Amino acid sequence: MGNSSPAILELKNIHKHFGANHVLKDVDLRVQSGSLVFIIGPSGSGKSTLLRCCNLLETPDSGRVLFKGEDINLKGVDVNLVRQKIGMVFQSFNLYPHMNALSNVSLALRKVLKLSSAESQELSLAALDRVGMRHKADSLPSELSGGQQQRVAIARSLALKPDILLFDEPTSALDPELVGGVLKVMRELRESGMTMVVVSHEMSFAKAAADHAVFMDQGKIIEEGTASQLFENPSNARVKEFLATLKHD
Ligand SMILES: Nc1ncnc2c1ncn2[C@@H]1O[C@H](COP(=O)(O)OP(=O)(O)O)[C@@H](O)[C@H]1O
Ligand SMILES: [Mg+2]
Repeated sequence: MGNSSPAILELKNIHKHFGANHVLKDVDLRVQSGSLVFIIGPSGSGKSTLLRCCNLLETPDSGRVLFKGEDINLKGVDVNLVRQKIGMVFQSFNLYPHMNALSNVSLALRKVLKLSSAESQELSLAALDRVGMRHKADSLPSELSGGQQQRVAIARSLALKPDILLFDEPTSALDPELVGGVLKVMRELRESGMTMVVVSHEMSFAKAAADHAVFMDQGKIIEEGTASQLFENPSNARVKEFLATLKHD
């Protein structure tokens, strides 16, 4: 994919501090429409913060967040609309325990988009179908495996018809045998043309699905390229070191 393809999301010169901790240091990120950008790096390097800046769950101290060419890091921007269009899937699923899968998915459709029950139910069932979970629409989260809960969480984001989905270590909380089902859903989303930004340590998934891979260290992107460039032939010593620790896990 050439650099001439339009960027649907572009972060420019992003800085973020938490108190005295300078967590993002002049970060630039370009996400082309329909591409999958994969972010890797050591714990504490700022991956989650960067992802959260993409949909304004965190406000950058400075820099620009351009979504479809418009700066959304400005006062007066409708953050709810931004978060609907740039959805997020978390490591910990964050489903409501007292609501069944269908209600978890349809809640935002009813409350945020103000759709009728019938309409939100139809869209929610379609979203559950996309992640292979329609047959569990009536189940409570406690009746589902971690992998199934994560697929419901993905359906919840999908139901809002996002332009971009952000994934923050979506399989890190799962038992190994449940990881494959979630990655399969992510691969299908990618094949359907969804724009995705994924923080994960699933290297085989990255090699198979990522268009662009980014390595973060201490608040900076220190190397980026294709997945095979970055993972098989990194030029930065720190990247090499980190990849070696992953392989020995
Ligand atoms: N809400 C917060 N308040 C204060 N410090 C935070 C907050 N979120 C993250 N940090 C700090 O920012 C740094 C980067 O964290 P994070 O983005 O979570 O890194 P990663 O996802 O790569 O592990 C860490 O030093 C972390 O302690
Ligand atoms: Mg993180």
